[in-house]
Amino acid sequence: MTEIIRTVKDMTAISRRLRAQGRSIGFVPTMGALHEGHEALMKKARHENDIAVISVFVNPLQFGPNEDYDAYPRQLDLDLAVAESAGIDYLFHPEAKEMYPEPAAVTLHVGALADVLEGAKRPGHFDGVVTVVNKLFNIVRPSAAYFGRKDAQQLAIIEAMVRDFNHDIEIVGVEIIREKDGLAKSSRNVYLTDTERQEAAYLSESLEMARQLITEGTRDSKVIEAAIESYLNEHTNGIVDEVAVYRYPELTETEKIDGQCFISLAVKFSHARLIDNIIIGES
Ligand code: PAJ
Repeated sequence: MTEIIRTVKDMTAISRRLRAQGRSIGFVPTMGALHEGHEALMKKARHENDIAVISVFVNPLQFGPNEDYDAYPRQLDLDLAVAESAGIDYLFHPEAKEMYPEPAAVTLHVGALADVLEGAKRPGHFDGVVTVVNKLFNIVRPSAAYFGRKDAQQLAIIEAMVRDFNHDIEIVGVEIIREKDGLAKSSRNVYLTDTERQEAAYLSESLEMARQLITEGTRDSKVIEAAIESYLNEHTNGIVDEVAVYRYPELTETEKIDGQCFISLAVKFSHARLIDNIIIGES
């Protein structure tokens, strides 16, 4: 049975009791509208720990003024059923005013890691992410927390936060879960029109095409970026918002593809901005 917990006080009491009993807690922070991507994280958390906890919280701090905070899909009943079937013990689902009763007196700010990619396009986004994840870590007190590689920049920033703030938590990165045609599962895929949904398969195709070019010997980042961009322009009506090659997890630009790099892209469709990435030369 998955128990829904709505207050910080109750969740804190539960995690305090579990830790006193010496039980390991695996934690998956989410914003809900759960799909197979989240499910993969939940199953891993379930498998590797005594207790599995997820949070479902649409965090206002990480949405920009023109983003989809109000429209973001909210469907607790469906999410509860998914959590149940993944064997989750506790689903933490606070209201925004429970998490942020007053404007914060002390805030967190991400440095250079947030100046590129999603962070550059969405000012303040990662400050909001680290603030909520930091709070959630203190409330849930997990032994391990699970994050998807779909949000590769987010994962790199969370790992940096855990290092910088000495959280005693193992961060586990989980592979991207995709639809049959390669589209990365996302809560925002529901915003796509039928035609856009078909075109969206070309996002991952373009990354596979890039992987092929690299396998065949192309090393110049600019050449790879240009090839992806023209492929996307040819196959989709979306607006290519970003195509970039960066070192991973340092998130610094690199002219040549060597060592561990990642190629990421963002495409704007009429009502959805989709992201995808692949990591090349994984160690
Ligand atoms: P959300 O977008 O709900 O994602 C929750 C977790 O699921 C993230 O770690 C994300 O990377 C992972 N995820 C999403 N789609 C995935 C896919 N197709 N394959 C693998 N993992 C996938 O990311 C957030 O929420 C928020 O920023 C949060 C961390 C909860 C802070 O508010």
